[in-house]
Amino acid sequence: MHDINERLEQMRAAARLGGGDKRIAAQHAKGKLTARERLELLLDEGSFEEWDMFVEHRCTDFGMTEQKIPGDGVVTGYGMINGRLVFVFSQDFTVFGGALSEAHAEKICKVMDQAMKVGAPVIGLNDSGGARIQEGVASLGGYAEVFQRNVLASGVVPQISLIMGPCAGGAVYSPAMTDFIFMVKDSSYMFVTGPEVVKTVTHEEVTAEELGGASAHTGKSGVADLAFDNDVEALLMLRRFFNYLPLNNRDGVPVRPTGDAPERLDFSLDTLVPENPNKPYDIKELILKTVDDGDFFELQPDYAKNIVIGFARMAGRSVGIVANNPLVLAGCLDIKSSIKAARFVRFCDAFGIPVVTFVDVPGFMPGTSQEYGGIIKHGAKLLYAYAEATVPKITVITRKAYGGAYDVMASKHLRGDVNFAWPNAEIAVMGAKGAVEIIFREEKKDPAKLAAREAEYKARFANPFVAGARGFIDDVIQPHETRRRICRSLAMLKDKKLDNPWRKHGNIPL
Ligand code: HXC
Repeated sequence: MHDINERLEQMRAAARLGGGDKRIAAQHAKGKLTARERLELLLDEGSFEEWDMFVEHRCTDFGMTEQKIPGDGVVTGYGMINGRLVFVFSQDFTVFGGALSEAHAEKICKVMDQAMKVGAPVIGLNDSGGARIQEGVASLGGYAEVFQRNVLASGVVPQISLIMGPCAGGAVYSPAMTDFIFMVKDSSYMFVTGPEVVKTVTHEEVTAEELGGASAHTGKSGVADLAFDNDVEALLMLRRFFNYLPLNNRDGVPVRPTGDAPERLDFSLDTLVPENPNKPYDIKELILKTVDDGDFFELQPDYAKNIVIGFARMAGRSVGIVANNPLVLAGCLDIKSSIKAARFVRFCDAFGIPVVTFVDVPGFMPGTSQEYGGIIKHGAKLLYAYAEATVPKITVITRKAYGGAYDVMASKHLRGDVNFAWPNAEIAVMGAKGAVEIIFREEKKDPAKLAAREAEYKARFANPFVAGARGFIDDVIQPHETRRRICRSLAMLKDKKLDNPWRKHGNIPL
């Protein structure tokens, strides 16, 4: 018994040491924490239950028999974040660069399978050189096993990836199939092939940071949702983020008591929208003044800034916020913003999170670059996502709601539950100027006549009452009562039930 306990302790010590003191020091020298230090910060103190500490790889090629480290480069198990269950894996870069072996993959699959059985989210802390080169196809098989589980878990339990080191090759595809990707600035990279391969194939010279660093993926590609300054900040923010999410697709949204009264009025909102309809304003001000405690967790703030997405709470319950931002591209819908918002709406719908939409949209972005890029198909993604969603949908039109974009942005016709408009809302096929230039083309030569037509069109259509007369909006509300009206609507919709017709799955325009 004594011998076994001694051996157990030896094995645990070896597992905890990972790739050894030298490699741990190298990890620290790069400003990175070790796999275990990261889990300590992510999870509630003392809550981590580790599994599979004794798992070793089975590779016998390239002298690998002599190089076995208990745990095989990934720390797995479950724990709590603010008292709520989560399954985790944390790749250990000090062991073969965190590269994924068959055994390493089996450990990840084990926690994913268990998470699915009990209905809890999975968080992956990724720090990996990709497929374990010494293992060849066994490693590729391991990746595919993880990918398959990512797909089966999608829409069942939330999956979050935190990229905390180089992630190359196979290491990027599993995160790509999770719901959210966060990165750490200056120490994390994601690319399908690294700078060396890029140089050989395309003769392009590019640094790892330029190719797949945090700024590339949060600003240019839209692959990542957020980037943080260092490991500590990233892990603490991930804990905050976790609080918004349900544990699974049947759990219901988490509730956090708030001192912010649902009936609170904010009179400063009455002057938020400028008199001149062509003048921009920041929609984030409306969001911050409407949600509980001014607390808004924005996602993808540096990508497609013409639409704002993120989580907040109203009367204590999580909601997803989608808002056109007139400050950027006048709030137009383009390819990037459509994709950004569509994926977010689908996440909310999959997990029963109500969607609150603030609309100020002059239409879809015109032009060859948008058309050649497929705005028809990509804009349709957002249309599809809103139309498919059965969660409570509340819409507030603050100013413009023109054309197809009016339809798309959670309109009544797409089963919007409660659709409000502010008094100065303009709900029409297009802006007055464009409209009269088309329908009164023959009067174009006479500017005075055209101006009169424009004024006539404006008076007739640039208001919320034409839509109101048809019941397309439920009420015209004062800006200062926006929070109160949304909170009441959400309370009314708490037990909403709506099902789409049975089908294997729809065919969203990918
Ligand atoms: C085995 C690996 C490894 C790998 C790194 N190591 N990547 N071991 N398999 N894929 C080991 C190194 O040998 C080294 O071991 C230790 O990890 C640290 O690596 P360094 O190169 O010293 O670190 P660094 O300079 O920080 O560079 C990190 C790196 C680089 C950018 C990740 O190691 C790298 O480019 N690795 C290869 C990436 C890659 O091509 N992976 C395969 C992709 S193909 P020692 O003993 O010296 O500490 C793929 C296909 C899957 O993934 C497709 C599925 C769809």
